[in-house]
Amino acid sequence: MTNKYDMVVRIEKSGNRYNAWDTDGTKRTSEITIGARKKAFDGNYLLGRFTNKSGNYYWKQIDGGEPSVETTPNTTDLPSVDVPSEHSEVLSFIHSSYSLKPKGLMMTELKWKYLIRSAVRGKNIMMTGPAGCGKTMAAKSVVNSLDRPDFYFNLGATQDPRATLIGNTHFNSDSGTYFSKSLFVEAISTPNAVVLLDELSRAHPDAWNILMTVLDYGQRYLRLDEQDGSETVKVADGVTFVATANIGNEYTSTRVMDKALMDRFTIVEMDVLTEEDENSLLTYMFPHVDTTTISNVSKIAALTRTESSSETARITSGVSTRTTVELCGLLYDGFSLVEAAEVSIYPQYDATGGVDSERTFVKQIVQKFQDDGSNDDLFNEEEMEEAEGTN
Ligand SMILES: Nc1ncnc2c1ncn2[C@@H]1O[C@H](COP(=O)(O)OP(=O)(O)OP(=O)(O)O)[C@@H](O)[C@H]1O
Ligand SMILES: [Mg+2]
Repeated sequence: MTNKYDMVVRIEKSGNRYNAWDTDGTKRTSEITIGARKKAFDGNYLLGRFTNKSGNYYWKQIDGGEPSVETTPNTTDLPSVDVPSEHSEVLSFIHSSYSLKPKGLMMTELKWKYLIRSAVRGKNIMMTGPAGCGKTMAAKSVVNSLDRPDFYFNLGATQDPRATLIGNTHFNSDSGTYFSKSLFVEAISTPNAVVLLDELSRAHPDAWNILMTVLDYGQRYLRLDEQDGSETVKVADGVTFVATANIGNEYTSTRVMDKALMDRFTIVEMDVLTEEDENSLLTYMFPHVDTTTISNVSKIAALTRTESSSETARITSGVSTRTTVELCGLLYDGFSLVEAAEVSIYPQYDATGGVDSERTFVKQIVQKFQDDGSNDDLFNEEEMEEAEGTN
């Protein structure tokens, strides 16, 4: 087997993100893990794309013999896919943008184009949908598709919104008290930056308050102190915000977002995948997993989703795409469907109530498919009730 790479990328830091650019100036960020990109940047080396035995790509350091200084173009010299100015160009950009969508992201052409259009029009975008349906993935993909400085903030993980969004006051004996501005201040001061606000719905209400003026099209400033009349930072021209939110789902940790804040966004609702789309995604991601088993996994997911949204729902949420992807990873590593379901699906469902519990219900669905997949027909309500013993 020849160990040759077919593509080379160089990592550049943009805001707090590590972007990968190939020699043609195409952004490859979404194809490489964050860890590999960061290491390559810190170690100042190039990454090459190799193909493994099963035909999948992987990236690793290209060592030896490589010129240490590559004349890879700097991002600022690259032909830009930035907002074209002529209306006709904007139109053609938006309508040809589906090719920029990564293959591994399942999203309809309409939704993707709407997302790109909102971004090039400088709208504040809010991706909504239940857990694990691809909100963060879609938000990151749109950011990657636009050749603009980008910044990532996970607001669901911050304990101290003031420090994250504004900055910290420090003391040192030489200069006394001084203020260090946050990376967020840098982000909003960078013209044309795309600022990702991940898990905004899980953020502390203080974060929402701070963001109110920033996101308001009529205000667009950040106040550095609570007092009126204190210093403010203007949001630079062309800055676009892309937020994600778990709206109306089952998680109690998700606070109900303020209406006034929601009003400042253009909502892009991520669709929960249909059985067919789930099946194509999983088949694409796991070409080596048995197709019947993959089709059963898609059916299980679809059945739980239909059930959870029915009026007489016996479970509060459906199996997410994040979970089906994890489950197929286990299948790939030799776990049986039942074993994989036991560790990846069941823990997400409440076991209290014994035979009437959500977990029992989901187990019954999985068990329908546990055999060899000869059970291909979709089972119906009657069978379901029979299995549950509620008739
Ligand atoms: N529409 C989709 N297309 C492709 N993969 C998806 C999709 N939805 C989910 N996935 C898979 O699930 C994983 C989790 O997706 P992601 O992090 O985008 O979910 P999320 O909607 O942001 O969830 P959360 O609400 O928990 O933040 C992805 O890494 C991907 O493997
Ligand atoms: Mg997310």
